Amino acid sequence: MRKVLITGATSGFGKLLVDAFLKNGDFVIASGRQLNSRPEIFENERVKYSRRFLEIEMDVTLSEQVQQAAILIKQKLGHIDILINNAGFGLFGSLEDIQEQEIRYQMEVNFFGTVSVTRAFLPMLRMAQGKIFNFSSVFGFMGFPLTSLYCASKFAVEGLTESLRGELAPHGVQVCLIEPGGYRTNFGKNLSWSQADPDSIYHVQMKNYRMLHEMFSKKKTQQPEEVSEGVLKLSKRKTLPMRKVFGQDGKLSSLLRNFLPSFVYFKVLDFYYKKTFLRKI
Ligand SMILES: NC(=O)c1ccc[n+]([C@@H]2O[C@H](COP(=O)([O-])OP(=O)(O)OC[C@H]3O[C@@H](n4cnc5c(N)ncnc54)[C@H](OP(=O)(O)O)[C@@H]3O)[C@@H](O)[C@H]2O)c1
Repeated sequence: MRKVLITGATSGFGKLLVDAFLKNGDFVIASGRQLNSRPEIFENERVKYSRRFLEIEMDVTLSEQVQQAAILIKQKLGHIDILINNAGFGLFGSLEDIQEQEIRYQMEVNFFGTVSVTRAFLPMLRMAQGKIFNFSSVFGFMGFPLTSLYCASKFAVEGLTESLRGELAPHGVQVCLIEPGGYRTNFGKNLSWSQADPDSIYHVQMKNYRMLHEMFSKKKTQQPEEVSEGVLKLSKRKTLPMRKVFGQDGKLSSLLRNFLPSFVYFKVLDFYYKKTFLRKI
């Protein structure tokens, strides 16, 4: 039976991954923040899969909790076969308006969290010749205005993961980037928007971005199960691809990014940004 550790398992893709891997017959370790105060989240899993389901408190930014989780899992299970670094959130806003503390926290969760969990569990993954899935995003290969910190955190995850591919292959551990487009999870609700005051020179851009975001959020029709089922399917492959893009929007962005010559790609984006972000309101 495969042992699968999922970070940020309390919501969105993470929760769907828990259920997909449990249904598949795997042993699932669901990790998340403040689990004691939210017992209802895994009510069903606890009852239905009591023999192969474990909940672990792990805020990925707290290295002590990460270490403790690793010790506990080592004691209870010995090793893990699959690690899914899914925990993350978005910080949107102009670089000038975002507070330094917010900037650092974005990197702490999305990048350093991935680093710290991976480091803590690598010895157990090596034992099992296991697999690591790191959640990136379309914004992990495509910069976007007023999203610079989220993009930077996901570009960092991409650099980390691509580098680990060659580093870990000789030790039997495989890595794969998951790059979803826009899906309706709690991501939108949990977004952190910088508090731009009305005098900010980015005010118009921000207002347009928020409108655009709301419009897309309402329109989002892609089912998040596509991603959880897709990761489950990938996990059964003997050899993992370097990356997997999800969603029509994701695939279109990837096509533009990878196949257009750079100067054409940026001309297209310049035109789109001007039309979208500088629209009079
Ligand atoms: N939805 C999309 O359109 C989309 C697109 C591309 C990439 N992604 C990526 O997909 C991943 C999952 O996001 P989602 O869409 O499923 O959003 P979500 O529904 O908001 O779920 C995010 C999960 O991450 C957890 N989390 C946040 N900070 C954490 C921390 N410090 N320690 C541990 N867990 C933490 C949250 O826990 P709490 O319940 O405690 O808040 C929650 O379980 C993220 O990495 C995100 O960047 C999402």
